[in-house]
Amino acid sequence: MVTEGQKVELVAAACAVRSNSYAPYSNYRVGAAILLPDGSVITGVNVENASYGLSNCAERTAVFKAVTDGYKEILAVAVCTDNGGSPCGACRQVLIEFAGDIPVLLSNAKGEVQETTLYSLLPAHFGPEHLD
Ligand code: THU
Repeated sequence: MVTEGQKVELVAAACAVRSNSYAPYSNYRVGAAILLPDGSVITGVNVENASYGLSNCAERTAVFKAVTDGYKEILAVAVCTDNGGSPCGACRQVLIEFAGDIPVLLSNAKGEVQETTLYSLLPAHFGPEHLD
């Protein structure tokens, strides 16, 4: 169960870290934050590269940081962009690996938040359960 207070905290964390985004090529800065079962929050930003194709999205940065720290389950995710953009397909698939139908909070630079869920963003997904 994710509380309204945790959702507010998550969006604030995603928007706060967004200024660390390294996006000199697209100038599209993204901040992400994920909520873990112990209540802690791990953030990520998009990290672009001169070779373009090696750029990493903010959501995947956050997930890889969390897994590096020993976490295997994600309870909610917030993404903060200029215009309320939604996670790309690759990030949706990476989130599915560690999450169920979790809240996905999309915030724009004005602080307007749209809430959806991971399964509505990636219906009929392929996940670890299919390999059991
Ligand atoms: N980006 C993210 O960080 N997350 C997404 O889900 C969508 C796209 C980044 C990648 C690239 O650095 C920039 O936004 C423009 O595509």
